Amino acid sequence: MNDAAKPTGELTLRTLAMPTDANPAGDIFGGWVMSQMDLASGIRAGERAHGRVVTAAVKEMAFQLPVKIGDTLNVYTEITRVGRTSITLQVEAWAHRARHRTLEKVTAGTFIMVALDEDGKPSPVPAE
Ligand SMILES: CC(C)(COP(=O)(O)OP(=O)(O)OC[C@H]1O[C@@H](n2cnc3c(N)ncnc32)[C@H](O)[C@@H]1OP(=O)(O)O)[C@@H](O)C(=O)NCCC(=O)NCCS
Repeated sequence: MNDAAKPTGELTLRTLAMPTDANPAGDIFGGWVMSQMDLASGIRAGERAHGRVVTAAVKEMAFQLPVKIGDTLNVYTEITRVGRTSITLQVEAWAHRARHRTLEKVTAGTFIMVALDEDGKPSPVPAE
């Protein structure tokens, strides 16, 4: 990793890319990466909302580099906006290539999570 390329946000989730998450060529499915980003968003937004949250929207995403079996996926999150019931996060996924000891940005996206009450209805995000 060089100084020009550093993750933005808080490291929220780390996990290992396994063979079951890959196609026969050894490339990890994009859906798996998005799923980890969704989990990280849920963790971070849930902590901010002090309760249950749900994914309302994911903005356009593009995959710049592949994730390979054996890479560690690091997901960074930053809360960029808190609305009445919604929390917007900028989420980055970085692959740590163990063999090469490098950290490379794979993709990034904007996730919008909504706080819910016990009935599953949007609920105000409490003040910090
Ligand atoms: C997300 C959900 C709770 C929103 O319910 P709703 O009745 O439309 O609620 P509202 O219109 O009051 O919107 C709630 C908040 O979400 C935001 N929001 C809703 N849809 C959005 C979208 N597509 N893009 C951006 N923000 C959105 C609204 O702007 C609002 O934010 P604010 O309170 O901070 O102003 C509801 O649509 C839902 O339960 N969807 C399914 C979520 C789900 O199951 N996700 C996993 C998919 S497998």
